[in-house]
Amino acid sequence: MAHPGDARRDACRRSERRLGVSARNAERRLVLGIETSCDDTCAAVVQSGGVVRSNVVSSQLVHERFGGVVPEVASRHHLELINLVLARALEEGATDLGEVDLVAVTRGPGLIGALLVGLSTAKALAASHMLPLVPVDHLHGHVAANFLALAELEPFDPPFLCLIASGGHTLLADVRERDRFGVLGTTLDDAAGEAFDKGARMLGLGFPGGPALERLAQEGDEHAFELPVPGRRKRPGAGVAREAFARTLDFSFAGIKTALWQRVNALSDDELQARRADLAASYQAAIVEALVLRVRQALEASGIDRLAIGGGVAANGLLRERVSELGATLHVPPRALCTDNAAMIAAAALELPALAYPDYLSIDAFAGAELRAA
Ligand code: KG4
Ligand code: ZN
Repeated sequence: MAHPGDARRDACRRSERRLGVSARNAERRLVLGIETSCDDTCAAVVQSGGVVRSNVVSSQLVHERFGGVVPEVASRHHLELINLVLARALEEGATDLGEVDLVAVTRGPGLIGALLVGLSTAKALAASHMLPLVPVDHLHGHVAANFLALAELEPFDPPFLCLIASGGHTLLADVRERDRFGVLGTTLDDAAGEAFDKGARMLGLGFPGGPALERLAQEGDEHAFELPVPGRRKRPGAGVAREAFARTLDFSFAGIKTALWQRVNALSDDELQARRADLAASYQAAIVEALVLRVRQALEASGIDRLAIGGGVAANGLLRERVSELGATLHVPPRALCTDNAAMIAAAALELPALAYPDYLSIDAFAGAELRAA
């Protein structure tokens, strides 16, 4: 007579067979990626070698009226959207769950409720189809967007430095292997994208502010207002803390933000209307210069002359232009792969060990940086 544990053991074996002899998943055919760490509900189908079969992103426009992402609202919308987005990703990828070999999902960092929708969905899909699952660090995903194979762009191989600048994070990654990265510098306060969003709000623009501020900046003069660029070495006597900060590869955007606030408050309503584009252009230029300054210093200090960028702010035209002037061998993913998406999560999963059923059922999401590879 069959023992009650037999079916479960058989299921485990099937799942392990799918894992294959190698701990890595490079040989796998199809990865279904899921990303719900913030306000985009994303699913993608990526093939071995980083070929993107589909990449569906549903951006939750509902947050615009609140001027920022409301976590509880984001979770509820992920719940409403996730099945539709998954179905679309499979359909556009010309496949179905029966053909998928591996499920990849963002485990963190991000909004915990939002992450849990993606993680629970991924667990349910993987368990019901006896598939292995790979939990992915969102920031590793942004790095791994550079491993995707596109018609117009070959995958970029380590070693390289990678500037990740998004709404929640800003860091310089030292990428020596595809499955991990070291952190050379990170932001001490706001993320670059957050600075764009807050600046846009001060200038009366909508949310998310980055693209709107970039559009307005195109009509302005970036030299019109002088804003502080943190990290730039100051004159002697500028202060010990500033000098010490200038010697790191860390970022800080709180000062630029405060400076914009002061400039805005010093103007009358009419003056502000007349100078909005100049303010936007000067503010954008200061943020971009602060980012590029650290990238230049990191390239010099590391001796690595290969550079990639990622995260929503990497969609910014001025940043894309300025990094191209650094003289490094540059890899710039298309804008849609810089902002949040699930193809990058699947790309990271191709480089990581998978968990077999039922081991992944007990894993949890995390809001902070606990999974970060050292
Ligand atoms: O990577 P992402 O899509 O989500 C997070 O992981 O946070 O990044 C979103 C951030 C937002 O702050 C948004 O304003 C910013 O990226 N962003 C931009 C641009 N497009 C998106 N910032 C500047 N210029 C852009 N064109
Ligand atoms: Zn992101």
